[in-house]
Amino acid sequence: MKTEKVTIHTLRQKKKASDRITMLTCYDASFARLLDDAGVDILLVGDSLGMVIQGHQTTLPVTLDEMIYHARAVARGTTRAQVVGDMPFMTYQASLDDAMRAAGRLVKEGGAEAVKLEGGAQHAELVYRLVSAGIPVMGHIGLTPQSFHQLGGFKIQGRDATAAQRLVDDARSLEQAGAYSLVLEGIPREVAADVTHVLSIPTIGIGAGSECDGQVLVIYDLLGMNDEFKPRFVRRYENLAMRIRTAVDEYIADVRSGQFPSEDESFSLQPQAKAPSRKAATVSAIALAGGCSPFSEGEMGSGKESASEETPFYGSPTQAARGGTGQGA
Ligand code: KIV
Repeated sequence: MKTEKVTIHTLRQKKKASDRITMLTCYDASFARLLDDAGVDILLVGDSLGMVIQGHQTTLPVTLDEMIYHARAVARGTTRAQVVGDMPFMTYQASLDDAMRAAGRLVKEGGAEAVKLEGGAQHAELVYRLVSAGIPVMGHIGLTPQSFHQLGGFKIQGRDATAAQRLVDDARSLEQAGAYSLVLEGIPREVAADVTHVLSIPTIGIGAGSECDGQVLVIYDLLGMNDEFKPRFVRRYENLAMRIRTAVDEYIADVRSGQFPSEDESFSLQPQAKAPSRKAATVSAIALAGGCSPFSEGEMGSGKESASEETPFYGSPTQAARGGTGQGA
């Protein structure tokens, strides 16, 4: 099946056709392959990685180099979805030139196909300049996590009439400046609906009700990786925290009881070869210390003893066959 790459034009078409857009955060190539194969439209390399991957309390410590590293991995694992890279805190607030260079690095080194930045009208000029330089921009208004301290925490925004109007105005400014889409985070659904109806670019909601043109969730929240975190706007489609614990408990029990690895999960000498004596084993250990590969033919046989041994030691056959996307470094 031919996979059409999702572009800013695909997304605009989707809004016109009232075809809802799906976006998920993604931080590595393995997840990228899975989410891309599932048909998600946009993979956001979100700075939420500071919290779910790095274990910080906020997104503020994330650096541009870290974003580039993760974006590159996601780009490698993606064929169809649009890959969007978050501009981390203080890479675009201090000066337009810094911001241009930071966005350029996300695209050039990270393989991102668009960048996302938080904030409204105050970034209109930057959005205009980025778009003029050929870098598509996704806006992000409402609960903007990089303003955690200014907002006094992760709090719903736009609840009174003035604040709601400001969100509509911000959304309009970003659209006029050239943004191709807009994340609406943590705002009343009525405000999100208004913004969605006044804009011709798609809105993508998180904690913003069902009338947005699309939805986004942090993939770790959707999969239930953290059982202490269950805010109202998250729907858990899995309980991976529990499943991972169960799987690892079983692994520990199997190793401790000697049930892992089994005969089938082990390699054997060639039929005519004799088992090494203790003395020979010592010699072979010395050879290993001298740099011989434990998996070389001489040590472990031809590697063609059974069909299953043709499976690569690491990495899936699909991964090998695909050979990556050619994006990123
Ligand atoms: O960083 C992130 O993951 C985000 C989404 C929650 C929209 O900005």
